[in-house]
Amino acid sequence: MKNILVTGGAGFIGSNFINHILAKRDDYFIVNLDKLTYAGNLENLKQSENNKNYRFIRGDIMNSELVNYIFESYNIKYVINFAAESHVDRSILGSQIFYITNVIGTNVLLETALKFKIEKFLQISTDEVYGSLGAEGLFTESTPLSPNSPYSSSKAAADMMALAFYHTYGLPVVITRCSNNYGPYQFPEKLIPLMVINSLNNKKLPVYGDGLNVRDWIYVIDHNKAAELVLEKGKIGEVYNIGASNEMSNIEITKLILKRLGRSEDLIQYVNDRPGHDRRYAIDSTKIRTELGWKPEFYFEEAIAKTIDWYIENKSWWESIINGEYRNYYKTQYKL
Ligand code: NAD
Ligand code: DAU
Repeated sequence: MKNILVTGGAGFIGSNFINHILAKRDDYFIVNLDKLTYAGNLENLKQSENNKNYRFIRGDIMNSELVNYIFESYNIKYVINFAAESHVDRSILGSQIFYITNVIGTNVLLETALKFKIEKFLQISTDEVYGSLGAEGLFTESTPLSPNSPYSSSKAAADMMALAFYHTYGLPVVITRCSNNYGPYQFPEKLIPLMVINSLNNKKLPVYGDGLNVRDWIYVIDHNKAAELVLEKGKIGEVYNIGASNEMSNIEITKLILKRLGRSEDLIQYVNDRPGHDRRYAIDSTKIRTELGWKPEFYFEEAIAKTIDWYIENKSWWESIINGEYRNYYKTQYKL
């Protein structure tokens, strides 16, 4: 059995990872440590909650005593750290919690992992640590880190600390840096679910700036299959970029969603730009493809259609979110 601590496993990507692993493997025992912030939702894990190889513990990665208890009681040998404050706009409204969770929280996990001599620590990072690209070029693993938002700077700090634990103490760390994910259960503050849900509700779609900022989209399961592979076969001390070579501007994505839902483009509303808005992200994932044999399996056209349909079919999931605490954030943020 591989005893693995998954942190942030009630969020969008972490829950998808747990559901994916438990559905097809019985050699993993997963302990999911999640604080259940506004972004954590146990509904995302319904299919896994009764699995004999799964335990959920509500708690904070900052709680060193609890983290020590988990490593000891469950004989943890692997860690995947998904836990984070993950939304750029929120980091602009208030940066401190980003450094507390993403930097100090990661430090608690690294310190504890060192003490318990684990076999691998996978730090889930992001392409945003590389900063912004112009019209040409791709991020490779050797692109210098140049983060621009409080969120991405906190993720970059965590990456550097994880690598320092490898170089200084020999902790078996690997890092993945993935591009923008989409899929079911993504919190509706992020571009794709926000645009789908607003369209369904005939509300305005807030496009930042000129709408021409570019992101490189990957279906969440493709990200998690890559993470699984890196956990098992990734070389320690290395960084692996993950991306599906699928660049799209925000306005293209927005129009595609409106078209699929049969709504008018009159719903588009250009709003003030995000401060410090990175212009373009694009990932070169040659390393993971050639060294580990990974490749994305989902075509964007099919997977985005499936994703949009999921939000149509799972109205109760997002209605409970948009009628809860999120309502206040939405009003302050968009003023629409
Ligand atoms: P998310 O915001 O949906 O989920 C984050 C989860 O972490 C939530 O369940 C939350 O409750 C939990 N959490 C937050 N603070 C915690 C704490 N102190 N202790 C324990 N749990 C805590 O985020 P996501 O989109 O699923 O992203 C997961 C990870 O992947 C993050 O590290 C993010 O930086 C990274 N990432 C995200 C994307 C993307 O497109 N969403 C792309 C690349 C990398
Ligand atoms: O690149 C990976 C990153 O992708 C992850 O590390 C982050 O956790 C994740 O949140 C995501 O960051 P982005 O800032 O790229 O994602 P977001 O969905 O917030 O925005 C995508 C693009 O859409 C960005 O250019 C801003 C724009 N946007 C976003 C929102 C929410 C709008 O135009 N309008 C909006 O209302």
